Amino acid sequence: MKNFDVVVIGAGPAGYVAAVRAGQLGFTVACIEKWRSPKGEAALGGTCLNVGCIPSKALLESSENYEKVLHSFGDHGISVKGVEFDVAKMLARKDAVVSKNTKGIEFLFRKNKVAWLKGHGKFLGTADGGYRLEVSGGDATEVVTAKNVIIATGSKARHLPDVPVDNVRVCDNEGALALPAVPKTLGVIGAGVIGLELGSVWRRLGADVTLLEALPSFLASCDEAVAKDAWKAFTKEQGLKINLGVRLGQVRQTRSGVTVEYTDADGRAQKLECERLIVSIGRVPNTENLGLESIGLKTDARGFIDVDGHCRTAARGVFAVGDVVRGPMLAHKGEEEGVMAAEIIAGQAGHVNYETIPWVIYTAPEIAWVGKTEQQLRAEGAAYKVGSFPFSANGRALSQGEPGGFVKVLADAKTDRILGVHVIHAHASEQIAEAVLAMEFMAAAEDVARTCHAHPSLSEVMKEAMLGVDKRSIHI
Ligand code: FAD
Ligand code: NAI
Repeated sequence: MKNFDVVVIGAGPAGYVAAVRAGQLGFTVACIEKWRSPKGEAALGGTCLNVGCIPSKALLESSENYEKVLHSFGDHGISVKGVEFDVAKMLARKDAVVSKNTKGIEFLFRKNKVAWLKGHGKFLGTADGGYRLEVSGGDATEVVTAKNVIIATGSKARHLPDVPVDNVRVCDNEGALALPAVPKTLGVIGAGVIGLELGSVWRRLGADVTLLEALPSFLASCDEAVAKDAWKAFTKEQGLKINLGVRLGQVRQTRSGVTVEYTDADGRAQKLECERLIVSIGRVPNTENLGLESIGLKTDARGFIDVDGHCRTAARGVFAVGDVVRGPMLAHKGEEEGVMAAEIIAGQAGHVNYETIPWVIYTAPEIAWVGKTEQQLRAEGAAYKVGSFPFSANGRALSQGEPGGFVKVLADAKTDRILGVHVIHAHASEQIAEAVLAMEFMAAAEDVARTCHAHPSLSEVMKEAMLGVDKRSIHI
């Protein structure tokens, strides 16, 4: 029987990062992973690399390039005739990007001496000062022991009750990232992150996309000013049809597609007929058949593993990180937790600051934020100041032909400490990093406002918004 200092279950971003860090710290490490690609090949990287962050960004890039050729190049004096696209080639490129990334993790495992145990991992019980785990479903079933275990089993798409996902007509994220042709009509249940990102991909390529969202407000977790701007961009400018406040009725597959019955926000019965349907209504943690009970652990009512602020479970030496525990289901949040768990096992002071985890929605424009929204601060009765600056007053944004959007900064009225930063712009995902760093260092708005930013650059908008907190932006 093989014995390890650390066994990680799951090789998504939370698990593989935990395994690599544990390897760096000098532990003997194994990572159990059962993922198989559609071709049946074992693969590392989890949801994020195989059917999440990476493939979605590859398709977002391809479809955005197509849209730019059609609608933006003309402004630069570039005319392109006979523009065509090839879905099969786009999907093949996406698969190649995925494969390059997943192979990269195999390299990292070799470099850091992490053993990859292929198959389903499950606790069998405790062993001398540690745990016994079974790995099954791979080449052979084996039992290993570990002094410490990091559970990083991630999540899967939540499905609608009684609506089977076949990933042909009714798709979750896996099918939605692999549609073999552009459907004429595409229905999307849930106007959250996946609905907006993947709805955008297929709309850009020509699908007529309708999103049905249960909540009465759009992008409720975004700052209200950003949500308002995004609504205008997605619906009026881009033609996504987003219906809010709907109540779903029957969803039926027909010979030609899918019929969705629903009640609209005014209580009227409606019907959506679409060639394909994406169900993107959130994700649920993977905890089935993990043998948690054999080591005295339970999940909460929603299936998450209970952990403390340092991802410790109630079982000594057992940690749980990433989507399988509370907090935002984001790859970078899981990665930070993976590092923290490995460092705590090594006796170090691992720590994650949950107040400064950025969010990004990779639509066009992108939406990114960190910290509190204005509506949250209002609800808390906090005293705050607001600074805002539009990209339309920035030379670089104008040169790039990307003048839409703004940066909005919320700062403490008394101390000037930055409480939240919200960006809506074509490159918001890159801009937000500066705000995260500033908040991590507990900066005041004035600290960033007095920092020299390169000219011309989009980052000047961040500086101007910080200046705006004290009503002293220069270029407006
Ligand atoms: P996962 O990535 O789900 O990995 C868990 C792994 O554990 C899987 O490989 C699974 O096979 C394995 N596993 C489960 N149970 C067992 C077991 N018993 N034995 C062995 N192996 C097991 N997040 C972002 O931050 N940015 C994005 O742009 C982004 N885009 C996304 C786009 C889509 C379409 C989707 C679906 C998600 C996206 N996410 C994004 C979310 C992100 O993918 C997840 O937050 C992240 O993958 C969670 O990492 P994880 O390691 O906790 O779990
Ligand atoms: P989500 O939580 O972002 O959105 C789901 C939406 O579906 C919500 O708006 C919800 O109100 C709605 N909904 C739920 N039940 C419904 C019903 N019965 N009828 C109509 N609407 C309903 O979840 P999504 O989009 O599935 O993504 C899952 C998670 O994956 C995200 O929360 C995020 O953590 C992660 N993700 C992150 C990305 C990023 O960081 N860019 C990209 C994609 C996913």
